[in-house]
Amino acid sequence: MNIYNSDCITDNNLIDKSIDLMICDPPFGIGENDFDKYYKRSNRTVTTKYEQAPDNYEEWTYNWLSIAKNKLKDNGTIYVISGWSNLREVLNAIHKCDLYMVNHNIWKFNFGVYTKKRYVTSHYHVLMLTKGEKVKYTFNQYCRYGPQEKNETGGSSAYKDMEDVFIINRDMRQEKEGVIKNNNKLASELIDKLILYSSNKDDQVCDFFMGSFTTAYSSIKLGRKISGFEINKELYDFNMKKLKELKFGYGLDSLKKVDIKKPKNQGKKITEEEKTNIKNDYDKLLSEGKLKKNISSILQEKYGRGPFSIKNILDSLK
Ligand SMILES: C[S@@+](CC[C@H](N)C(=O)[O-])C[C@H]1O[C@@H](n2cnc3c(N)ncnc32)[C@H](O)[C@@H]1O
Repeated sequence: MNIYNSDCITDNNLIDKSIDLMICDPPFGIGENDFDKYYKRSNRTVTTKYEQAPDNYEEWTYNWLSIAKNKLKDNGTIYVISGWSNLREVLNAIHKCDLYMVNHNIWKFNFGVYTKKRYVTSHYHVLMLTKGEKVKYTFNQYCRYGPQEKNETGGSSAYKDMEDVFIINRDMRQEKEGVIKNNNKLASELIDKLILYSSNKDDQVCDFFMGSFTTAYSSIKLGRKISGFEINKELYDFNMKKLKELKFGYGLDSLKKVDIKKPKNQGKKITEEEKTNIKNDYDKLLSEGKLKKNISSILQEKYGRGPFSIKNILDSLK
């Protein structure tokens, strides 16, 4: 565990090309210290000092992001979390760093800032980046749901989970008196999800802006090594003490067991005849009044294909 109470830009402790997965949630450059008056949460649990970003947000973002890129292995992944106000500056910095955007995800959360004359902001951007388009990065498609698993409405759980809008609640219930955190704590479930999809056990995860150490807690729980920085001494001391009490990988046994049994024809070439049969069956089932999600399940079963290939075949025939 190499976590430092220092500035991620000037601290030179991390080794180049040593990180498999970066999760970086910097200050958004929106004067966060004034936000307490808008939040309807108890201040008992909120740290008073917040290290905001300097005024030159784009240049500052470029500075830390280029260092993050250097610390990343060639096949690693970086997630950058951003609000919308300075998204343009973040995207410019990503472009200048020559990082490739694999996904522009949205985290939709359940608690926004109270407003009267505009819509309530209830999302962050979760930008998934690699060192290039051809990079063979880690992506564990069935880390949370198996290929055959269905959700309560009969659709594919894996497909739903891989949609680029993540609807995940904040960790509100964990607010206890005496807990030191900042106003911007990310949801543990969000970070668990990013770690499970984009890293493997014993991989090296890094967070340049630890804040309330959400990435660190998830990493230790899921058996990933953790390194990074937090400039705020109060947050650093409080969380380092708690972190050291945790057993590496303590949460792995309680992870949901995923049945990764694949459909029997997955990987086999799809013939034109099979495509036509699937389309004909689809049209027939639709005319009989069956719901689309149920039709997909029937076709998966009949043709031994997964939800993604059935969807792709039908899309290609539209
Ligand atoms: C948005 S918060 C991170 C929240 C974190 N993801 C969590 O879930 O708790 C940003 C954090 O970055 C820290 N910070 C700001 N500038 C920094 C810098 N140059 N180096 C290291 N940490 C910094 C702030 O003190 C703050 O705690």
